[in-house]
Amino acid sequence: MHKEAGQRPGKAAEQEAIYFSFLAEVGITKHMGALESTKQLIELCGIEQGQAVLDVGCGVGITACYLTKRYGCRVVGIDITERMIDRCNERARREGVEDAVEFRVADAQDLPLEDGRFDVVISESVNVFLADRRRAMREYVRVARTSGRIGLNEMTLLRSPPPAQLLPYMYQVAGFEGEIPTVEDWEDLLRSAGLREIVAYARALNVREEARSRLERFGFREMVSAVGRVLVLALKDPASKAFIRQTLGGAKLLSRDVLEYLGYGIYVGTK
Ligand SMILES: C[S@@+](CC[C@H](N)C(=O)[O-])C[C@H]1O[C@@H](n2cnc3c(N)ncnc32)[C@H](O)[C@@H]1O
Repeated sequence: MHKEAGQRPGKAAEQEAIYFSFLAEVGITKHMGALESTKQLIELCGIEQGQAVLDVGCGVGITACYLTKRYGCRVVGIDITERMIDRCNERARREGVEDAVEFRVADAQDLPLEDGRFDVVISESVNVFLADRRRAMREYVRVARTSGRIGLNEMTLLRSPPPAQLLPYMYQVAGFEGEIPTVEDWEDLLRSAGLREIVAYARALNVREEARSRLERFGFREMVSAVGRVLVLALKDPASKAFIRQTLGGAKLLSRDVLEYLGYGIYVGTK
């Protein structure tokens, strides 16, 4: 595995870079709530046919291609991990939408995009990883048109403070070690970027529903290919093997205890 996309200083940056490059190799990226939460985000952002949408931290491009196919949106997807953008372009070609969607390597905190270009800016499970979330929010507001919407789906601490013994498991589920914001923290982030009419709600993860919705998001064939790639990586690359053992191991990972504290929230505001 190669390393890329350091966001925070020191060890945390390295862990995140390993996490993202692993996901890019496997060819699957995720956010909590899977396709169901994407649909909720689309609805709350009022995304309509043909609109210009920016997907920040687009991962392997599933939501960007979905918006193009389903809503005829003109989508730009940006991601800091170069390998993710390769995956996005492969997907766009495979799904026949390469002319309607554009993918670029870029940092959420410094968008190489002009002011007021987008009707809607969305971002799913990205901002929790950023070193400077306020700066990123200012960027989203800058590239949105007046009255445009900004919508996030982000990991959220449902109850505070989490017991110390759960923290290692929460970090494993989250994919990073650091403070996970509460609903109030996320709301405050949107408000302090000058957004109005803020809608915010948090959800606990329903493991069964999550599995169903993930399968719907990825499709059966893609899930099987991803599992195959995980197995190949585990056999070929010792760093990947250690990473897989660390992130997938541990019966407590999705235990009721962890899910009582760690969930996700949808946050939408209007410029
Ligand atoms: C957990 S994945 C979610 C991907 C995608 N949104 C999804 O829901 O499938 C987080 C993504 O954020 C990207 N990312 C992390 N830091 C970023 C930054 N500063 N700017 C842009 N993308 C970033 C990672 O490369 C990764 O693809």
